Amino acid sequence: MTAPEAVFRFAHLSDPHLTDPSGARFRELAGKRALGYLSWRRRRRHEHRREFLDALSSDLQNRAPDHTVITGDLTHISLPQEFLEAREWLRSLGTAERITVVPGNHDCYVRMPWDQSLGLWSEFMRADSAEAGTGSLFPLVRIRGPVAFIGLSSAEPSPPLFATGRLGDEQLDRLDQALAALEHSGLLRVLMLHHPPVPGTERWRKRLVDAPELCSLLEKRPVDMVLHGHRHRPGHTLIKMTGRQIPVFGIPSASAAGLHCKHASEYNEYDVVRTERGWRVDVRARSWQEGSPIYREEQIARLEIGRSR
Ligand SMILES: [Fe+2]
Ligand SMILES: [Fe+2]
Repeated sequence: MTAPEAVFRFAHLSDPHLTDPSGARFRELAGKRALGYLSWRRRRRHEHRREFLDALSSDLQNRAPDHTVITGDLTHISLPQEFLEAREWLRSLGTAERITVVPGNHDCYVRMPWDQSLGLWSEFMRADSAEAGTGSLFPLVRIRGPVAFIGLSSAEPSPPLFATGRLGDEQLDRLDQALAALEHSGLLRVLMLHHPPVPGTERWRKRLVDAPELCSLLEKRPVDMVLHGHRHRPGHTLIKMTGRQIPVFGIPSASAAGLHCKHASEYNEYDVVRTERGWRVDVRARSWQEGSPIYREEQIARLEIGRSR
């Protein structure tokens, strides 16, 4: 009798936009935040609803993945109280050891002191190599089971009506070094960022500005898959390069009622199994279904990934 295959399961959710900025003080709502607040009042609060996120959290906890990654946009307009509210939600979801977060553009809506904003989530963004109590520096690398999770920050403030992201040359240099160190590690390399990495798949005013530079780097230092959010839609695309292609997965918002783009609350589940040549990864979408506490499951891909280098 052969032993059952050991499965490492991780979940990916994104864009929960879980906070309630209604308690914002008048002086906090200057500039871009004023527009963001109006957008939340008019539109976004009807789409991003706590009961949908609670249903997803409950389904996720029943599935008990070994790890969960969250690719940003936990807040709406980056108020200090939103970061605290999001931290409470993260802590209710699980321990920092089992949850990894990268920020989205809404989590860097305007420039904010680190200790009143992303620093409040640092336990969920700390690289394995970081000393306890130190800040987060992207890319962060966290090794869990057979997987190296590599998190990037594409979050930076952008002008009103823009939602662009940027990695920047320094972060790309550090990514080059981090991927070089993982090259013969025998780990499945999963890259995570908020913005879609494939040039041309997002509107110009919402794009990752240096997506071409990221793709050039990945040609030299490949990863095995990329996960992103930001579009609030499911997506399975590829980064195509000489001799190989990297699968890329995007997902709808975790809290969506489905009023705007017809994609209600959803997350993806990845089951990773080692094989003789590398890994088999089954990718399933789990989506909200009306009248049921259980999310509907749909297989969306089976990947056979060779351990090439
Ligand atoms: Fe978002
Ligand atoms: Fe976004």
